[in-house]
Amino acid sequence: MRVAVVGATGAVGSTMLELLRDRAFPAEELVPFASERSAGRALDHGAGQGLVVRALSLEAVEGFDLALFSAGSGTSAEWAPRFAAAGAVVIDNSSHWRMYEDVPLVVAEVNPEALGGHRGIVANPNCSTMQMVLALAPIRDRAGIERVVVSTYQSVSGTGQRAVEELMEQSRAVVAGEPVRSPEIYPHQIAFNVLPQVEAFRDGDLYTTEERKMMAETRKILGEPELPLSATCARVPVLQGHSESINVETTEPLTAQACRELLAAAPGLAVVDDPAAALYPLATAAAGRDEVLVGRIRPDPSRERCLNLWVVGDNLRKGAALNAVQLAELVVERAAPRAKEPAAPPAAA
Ligand code: A2P
Repeated sequence: MRVAVVGATGAVGSTMLELLRDRAFPAEELVPFASERSAGRALDHGAGQGLVVRALSLEAVEGFDLALFSAGSGTSAEWAPRFAAAGAVVIDNSSHWRMYEDVPLVVAEVNPEALGGHRGIVANPNCSTMQMVLALAPIRDRAGIERVVVSTYQSVSGTGQRAVEELMEQSRAVVAGEPVRSPEIYPHQIAFNVLPQVEAFRDGDLYTTEERKMMAETRKILGEPELPLSATCARVPVLQGHSESINVETTEPLTAQACRELLAAAPGLAVVDDPAAALYPLATAAAGRDEVLVGRIRPDPSRERCLNLWVVGDNLRKGAALNAVQLAELVVERAAPRAKEPAAPPAAA
């Protein structure tokens, strides 16, 4: 099997390479792609193995079985169909293809059956959506969901490597008592600050594109197009790991203890919930872990059949690279057959 990783020098792409190696993914050949800037660079792939980065070209996309993408929406829009046309199944981490009707949007533990209908491109959900849906799906299955209100506290690695560098540089300047240079990645200083803006505001929209993604993608993954959901996304000066406060109203009653037991038994989740001992999910604890952590599970005193949860996940792992690699594993396992018709127009922009 020949596997391409597009965006292999980036924060998510390098984690994809690491996970393919650590999970012993059955690839005979692994080819890292990045921009022209990185072509020729050697990447350490462990055990003395070096992988040489290639630039994308029409010839270079030929002959792959799988292509994992995390190189931004523009690159995915242009190159994913080319890899797919050349015979690869593309697992795309960008937002570009997620809301296309004929592109499955899949969380490995939640809706793997959706993979069956793919036509060459499978979309990996947004990182904040991914960890929330992991916690919501078992609750939905047990008690039904009437409404969800979520607030996020997202780390800078979700934006990419340059955002990590911006936070580090600003933090150093603040600690040294030096002036902070004008930010280049975020609209404001991120060090020692909280920005109630993740991504962009489209013309006339009071919600950001990240908040829109969380709402639309959650509905698509759960197969509940009308699910009432409200999201507020904030960027915080954390390197790795997104935290979320989730308020969920259920159809049937569900006690906090029943919810704790339910989530403890659900795949991909680990319950960390002993507040008296100061044990709850932390970004520093979630970073580097495969499981999404859930804690602070408690009834909402202001409303019946309503629970509050605190959910933390490693945005580079389960939020991106890990789920992409799990989907690649599922595609191989199931050898998901491709439907014959060409791709339909998008369901939504
Ligand atoms: P490069 O390192 O050569 O810029 P991150 O999300 O951490 O910012 O990483 C983005 C990834 O996408 C990097 O691997 C980057 O490569 C890659 N990338 C950016 N633009 C392109 C492009 N036009 N073609 C291929 N890869 C790209």
